Amino acid sequence: MLSCVEDYRVAARRRLPRIAFDYLEGGAEDGDALRRNRDAYSRLLFRPRVLNDVSRCSTATSVWGREMAAPMIVGPTGLNGLFWPQADELIARAAAEAGLPFVLSTASTSLLEDARAAAPDGDLWLQLYVQQDRRIAEDMMRRARTAGYSTLVLTVDTPVHGNRDHDIRNGFKLPLRMSRRLLADCLRHPHWTYQVLRFGAPELKNIAKSVGEKADLNRHAALLSRQMDLTLAWRDIAWLREHWHGQLIVKGIQSVDDAMLAAQSGVDGVVLSNHGGRQLASTLASLELLPAVCAAVAGKLKVFIDGGVRRGSDVVKAVALGATGTLLGRAPLYGVAASGQSGASDVLRILQAEMRTTMQLLGCAEVGKLEAAHVVSAQHLLAPSAVNSRVA
Ligand code: GLV
Repeated sequence: MLSCVEDYRVAARRRLPRIAFDYLEGGAEDGDALRRNRDAYSRLLFRPRVLNDVSRCSTATSVWGREMAAPMIVGPTGLNGLFWPQADELIARAAAEAGLPFVLSTASTSLLEDARAAAPDGDLWLQLYVQQDRRIAEDMMRRARTAGYSTLVLTVDTPVHGNRDHDIRNGFKLPLRMSRRLLADCLRHPHWTYQVLRFGAPELKNIAKSVGEKADLNRHAALLSRQMDLTLAWRDIAWLREHWHGQLIVKGIQSVDDAMLAAQSGVDGVVLSNHGGRQLASTLASLELLPAVCAAVAGKLKVFIDGGVRRGSDVVKAVALGATGTLLGRAPLYGVAASGQSGASDVLRILQAEMRTTMQLLGCAEVGKLEAAHVVSAQHLLAPSAVNSRVA
């Protein structure tokens, strides 16, 4: 019986060949940002209130008038088909069944139309990378509109790929090229290998469709890694607004100044994110940035965060510090990599159940009542007077 996200991580590591697991798991360079994301949650402690009626505790919330079962969004991750065949469709369905939004990546291995077919009633969001040829992004936005996606998430922390030693060491490159090392890796992971042989290697189908060609993995991988539009700037929010009339979120904000620019540019939300520690190797954790950003832009836009969420209690901490919701990257991927759709569903269920228990133990029955006074930073406690402080 697997009982927490970590159990699914272990199961995913067991099932995936090293080249795939390292791609999922790894951070940039020495992993400092990756570790900091987790440490930031560990350093934040709860300050429970007692004798509050928590008999009717609910994790539900709503964003832009749409109900969510919890302040959690299944975040965009590329190449999901590397972990399980049709993983994007399975995750879309798992998220919809859990009552949570799902963000499909530009680098998805399923068509955005197929994710919609898998989750007809789901709240689907599209993550956008902008390549030099802007017509690709324009076409993808058009397709997403037609397929009823509600929200566009522009990722802005990836003009180039981060330095990822593990991928270089493993020879990770699309399409995967057979080598003695990969063959040995495949033989040690027969279930994964059997599925790839049976269903085919993952392809960047979504981008291929907008490029207007048959999937050519070499070319599309190059589009993603080497042909990003490096001229992209704040002025281009106006260009996106011409093509996208739903909610628009900028993902990858790592400073208060940029959060303020985002508010001025008129976007509807930001995601504080260091891209799961996969881009710049030494950055603040988004949780550390959250209180200052919320103070600066409160009321002007929604502030989401990602990076390091492995427990429902982490979601509670982020919301207490002002986040509208947290995006989940690796956690549902561990589930899907371990056992397909049921694994993704289990992870989402576990996180929601943990969140509910945490809120009850915290003496808070409603998401809207979580506040900074519910948490305190462990470092802060070094000054004894801080125990009374309401500031985290
Ligand atoms: C893609 O966004 C990645 O982090 O690999």
